[in-house]
Amino acid sequence: MKFFITGGSGLLGGRIATVADDEHELILSHNSNPTGNTVKCDITNEDEVKKIISKENPDVIIHCAAMTNVDLCEDEVDKAYKINGDATGYLAKAAEGVNAKMIYVSTDFVFDGKKGNYKETDKVNPLGIYAKSKYDGEVQLQRYSSDWAIARVSVLYGWHERLNFTTWVIDELRNDNEINIVTDQINSPTLADNAAEAMFEIALQDKNGIYHTAGNDLISRYDFTREIAEVFDLDETLINPITSDKFVQKAPRPRDSSLNVSKIEKELNFKMETCKESLERMHDCE
Ligand SMILES: NC(=O)c1ccc[n+]([C@@H]2O[C@H](COP(=O)([O-])OP(=O)(O)OC[C@H]3O[C@@H](n4cnc5c(N)ncnc54)[C@H](OP(=O)(O)O)[C@@H]3O)[C@@H](O)[C@H]2O)c1
Repeated sequence: MKFFITGGSGLLGGRIATVADDEHELILSHNSNPTGNTVKCDITNEDEVKKIISKENPDVIIHCAAMTNVDLCEDEVDKAYKINGDATGYLAKAAEGVNAKMIYVSTDFVFDGKKGNYKETDKVNPLGIYAKSKYDGEVQLQRYSSDWAIARVSVLYGWHERLNFTTWVIDELRNDNEINIVTDQINSPTLADNAAEAMFEIALQDKNGIYHTAGNDLISRYDFTREIAEVFDLDETLINPITSDKFVQKAPRPRDSSLNVSKIEKELNFKMETCKESLERMHDCE
């Protein structure tokens, strides 16, 4: 099977390349950070998207590229909607042109966080610009593609040259730095490798619809950080619990946007890992 992966220079795209079976052909794309064998494709340029997808003629597009800086999206609203919303529409149209399936990577932030343990059937209510623009991507995908899936993840982490929450925590604690972590934001931290495997499963089992492809835990950021310290044998006393009101962030964050993963586990017979399992796997391949 031939896959075209946007965001190949990012965390998830990079881990998709790592976990892919050799039998598959992968084309990975970047925008401003060429990495390894990635090809350039600015997804906000509709002509460029159309040309590259017609030339590569993939069976499946896994669309990971996004404007992922949640706070920056509040300042650069048009850019956020262009990258996360409109560009998803361009890719969906291009996918339709070559009869490719399209899997769009979305976020737990489509929910407002009032309830938690969200199922795919729960009503969305995105709060900030990042969340709204990513939801716009979900809408545009369904408008233009007839063979689509949405894979929602939450707090992605894994080994990558750019820091993510988990690798930042490991760095700080290894350097004996104290860190302040919120106790009142709950989600489902997701090892990028496990999410990547779930996306291949969706493609290979030729599934359509929405799937929560997140870590199999409903956990506060503080408790997750303690698990990181435990698995990586780091000093837990350096982790200070704080509440969100003491940690001002520009974009609104849902209080509990944790995702229920039972649909993918039942329908695809695919296991989403707990944080402990994922962190141990990450530790083993350092
Ligand atoms: N990170 C999280 O905690 C999290 C949580 C929930 C959902 N998600 C979703 O998961 C997906 C993957 O996230 P990630 O953390 O792996 O992302 P990331 O590491 O921040 O990488 C973002 C990627 O998007 C690409 N990109 C940005 N603008 C582009 C443009 N105009 N044209 C083409 N490519 C562009 C970047 O390319 P260059 O670097 O080459 O410019 C980069 O490869 C995203 O859809 C994100 O919304 C992430």
